[in-house]
Amino acid sequence: MTRRIPLIAGNWKMNGLTADSIALARAVAAGAAEGCELLVCPPAVLIPPVAEALAGSPCMLGAQDCHFESAGAHTGDIAAVMLADAGCSHVILGHSERRADHGEDDDLVRAKTAAAHAAGLVAIVCVGETLAERDAGRTLERISAQLEGSLPSDVTPGNTVIAYEPVWAIGSGRTATPEDVAEVHAHIRGRVASKFSPGIGDGLRILYGGSMKPSNAEALLAIDGVDGGLIGGASLHAEDFLAIAASCP
Ligand code: PGA
Repeated sequence: MTRRIPLIAGNWKMNGLTADSIALARAVAAGAAEGCELLVCPPAVLIPPVAEALAGSPCMLGAQDCHFESAGAHTGDIAAVMLADAGCSHVILGHSERRADHGEDDDLVRAKTAAAHAAGLVAIVCVGETLAERDAGRTLERISAQLEGSLPSDVTPGNTVIAYEPVWAIGSGRTATPEDVAEVHAHIRGRVASKFSPGIGDGLRILYGGSMKPSNAEALLAIDGVDGGLIGGASLHAEDFLAIAASCP
């Protein structure tokens, strides 16, 4: 079996100004742990100063979104190739906040994921059920549909990471039970393997996201099939983010 190196990814969302973001990036870079990969995803305008702050550190840099075309008349948008040019190695796509705030659907996420791959970026594709879907017993069905619709045909373990983020767990302080997380991660691995190739599931990294913090990280990261975390609120504090990283098995 392939050993999957855990990935601890910070999603800074729409937080931070230049000075505090540089300080945060420097603190994360200084504490970069062994045994896992670290990634921070600042707001787009902060990518250049954060890139500079991370220079020479193993902590990687990512973005929170990209357009599906490589250039053109798309006011306010940023192409994947521009993110790569600015020093990003990863981009988060299909986050539930973008699906909700900007009406992003699976077709759009799939096009953006293909664009990220074409630019040489690793796409972190987010999936997750709402509370209503979970309560209705439709979690696995929902995740299957999102995977089916959001992943382009060129997915490999090298160019794609899946983040399972139950929508109701994001920013709420609630986390899914270990049993639920294990079930969904196994389901994702199986679905991706059956859609693409049987071998792909083994190397594919699947992150858990939703209220991960130092106090619950060890338990969440120990769950079979959890290969790291996508962390929002706790990634804004270097100490918390690094404590989560230090909890990797
Ligand atoms: P949270 O956010 O850790 O603040 O719940 C996670 C995410 O939305 O990626």
